[in-house]
Amino acid sequence: MTIPAELEPSIPPWATMGEPRRAHVRRVAELMHGWAVTMDLPAAERSRWLRAAWLHDALRDAEPTELATWADGMQGPVALLHGPAAARRAEAEGFADRGVLDAVRYHSVGAPDWEPVGRALYCADLLEPGRRFDQAARAELAERFPREPEQVFREVVSRRLLHLVRSGWPLPDATARMWNALVASSSR
Ligand SMILES: [Fe+2]
Ligand SMILES: [Fe+2]
Repeated sequence: MTIPAELEPSIPPWATMGEPRRAHVRRVAELMHGWAVTMDLPAAERSRWLRAAWLHDALRDAEPTELATWADGMQGPVALLHGPAAARRAEAEGFADRGVLDAVRYHSVGAPDWEPVGRALYCADLLEPGRRFDQAARAELAERFPREPEQVFREVVSRRLLHLVRSGWPLPDATARMWNALVASSSR
């Protein structure tokens, strides 16, 4: 869904992203905007969802030294550092919305106590239509999200967990805690 110009805080001027990354971020923003409109969210919340989308990969293509500067001494691959670094950079610019910052900070690994904006970003990052794998299944999940955000979030988390396990990668602590919180909430 096309985003009206008045709703666009857009990609921050300090972002370091190549053109393919900018196109990905725009698709994530358009998907989240479409969901927010379909869900009839208040304008302020729609704007928060867009802000999270525009910010989330702002430093994804930054040089290692720039990432290290903003990642507060964290070590690890770019895939894990760019969320925390973008959140810190946005804070340094005076941005103080904790829910949006946490959405950005943890978008690669997940968080057990996210606001809806964090859950929506986590889902949109995987479900945006530009990714090549599982296109039909992901499109179906994207279409369902506005009606069943909790169920789709759970499905997206389980897909990403399975992918990590099958790839033989270590499970980040935050990812395990997010999954355990979901299991606990659904068994109550
Ligand atoms: Fe990312
Ligand atoms: Fe992304």
